[in-house]
Amino acid sequence: MSDPNALTADQTTTAGANASVDHGLLWLDGDLRVVGHNATYQQLMELDGELETFIGRPFQELLRSLQQRGEFVDGEVERYLSDHLPILRNRESFKVERVRPNGVALSISAVPLPGGGYVYVYHDVSETRRLRELQRRSAKASVIAMANLAEHRDADTGIHVLRVARLVGQTARKLMMLGKFRAVIDEEFIERAATASILHDIGKITTPDHILLKTGELSATERQTIQEHTTIGARLIRQAKLTMGDNPYLDMGAEIALTHHEWFDGGGYPHSLAGAEISLAGRICTVADVFDALTSHRPYKTPWTAQQALHRIQEKSGSQFDPAVVAAFVEVIKERETACLFPWDDAMSVGNPRIDEQHRILIDTVNQLAGVGSLHNHYAVAMIIDELLVYAAFHFDFEEKLMSSADFPHFDEHQRMHQEFVRWVEDFRDDFIAYGKKALGEPVLAFLKDWLKQHIFEEDQRYRPFVEKLAI
Ligand SMILES: [Fe+2]
Ligand SMILES: [Fe+2]
Ligand SMILES: [Fe+2]
Repeated sequence: MSDPNALTADQTTTAGANASVDHGLLWLDGDLRVVGHNATYQQLMELDGELETFIGRPFQELLRSLQQRGEFVDGEVERYLSDHLPILRNRESFKVERVRPNGVALSISAVPLPGGGYVYVYHDVSETRRLRELQRRSAKASVIAMANLAEHRDADTGIHVLRVARLVGQTARKLMMLGKFRAVIDEEFIERAATASILHDIGKITTPDHILLKTGELSATERQTIQEHTTIGARLIRQAKLTMGDNPYLDMGAEIALTHHEWFDGGGYPHSLAGAEISLAGRICTVADVFDALTSHRPYKTPWTAQQALHRIQEKSGSQFDPAVVAAFVEVIKERETACLFPWDDAMSVGNPRIDEQHRILIDTVNQLAGVGSLHNHYAVAMIIDELLVYAAFHFDFEEKLMSSADFPHFDEHQRMHQEFVRWVEDFRDDFIAYGKKALGEPVLAFLKDWLKQHIFEEDQRYRPFVEKLAI
């Protein structure tokens, strides 16, 4: 039953009063019915008199009406009701941050009131968030620049680290949703571990080419040299920290570089650590790293399917890998497999296996954007967009070199299309990341899907006869 008497007169202030308060307030009674709000709430939510009609009605009705106005994306209200209302019913508080469609970032805390009922407190945190994002971007850019130096010998591996980073983020998030490692995993850990994992192989910068790129059996000394990439990587990152100063990714990056080849049963290197002795970020990174290596093209092997790679990882659960991490990882990949805006079609083939594989990866990356959960997850979307940009740049460069050596007559026009696409994605990313101005919704997904489809099916087919001639 509701207990309106539990709320004081102050708490039931409605619009018009409290105009000077810089935070919005919305009060609910013990049955989660709207009992009042202040003027700042009304301003922040850009609501006028209509709010009054919700007084005395269930909070859900207010949310649904806001949804109809376009305040929330599809499914957001349902998820909110199932995830957060039970917390309130348990009389616990929670805090979330969300960006309104007009780009204003709100920090929202919901707190149970001692006498019954609840109060929602809304703060405009747009400026803090903008500065935080800019700082995060520049810290991440330094990390990517460092990794690129180490990966320069094989352009393909530059994208490998970004894919691993995304998988690390998704797996950490899944672990959090499954209620695992509660003491360690929060939003900050997820973001930090994902970006820091970009540095996992940075120590390979010192591994000589003849060992790193060797396809045959390695000698004992060669194996030892390769294994040193873990300790060398951690040392390089710690040295970078001395000059770069306060970069939140470097401590965790060093931890991951050092531990990503340790085995859960103690059989790994460099320190034969076992179980919880290995940092959690390292335990997550190792699964993502092995999966990505198995499913990628290498000069000496064709890529495994996701199913084959998952099977191998499950076989090694408990020996090489942490079983809890494996369980979460399996879920992530299964969800990924169901997310499909558009599938690869053999009619897309341009007759060059390298290009076909790159096109598959581009399609897969765009499909990831439509994946379960990623649409509503700011960091996941930001990571996939970064990946899309890096990979598109790599692929376009590869394709353009091929077209130019095949004397493709429409080279300039084709190159312009590539550049326009990259510019469009960059603009979208900047608006999405720095200011929260643009959300990832159906129109953006439709643009990416249609562009890629049309480009691969039609434009890329036009160079096929020229490139084929080159191969003969
Ligand atoms: Fe490694
Ligand atoms: Fe192209
Ligand atoms: Fe292409």
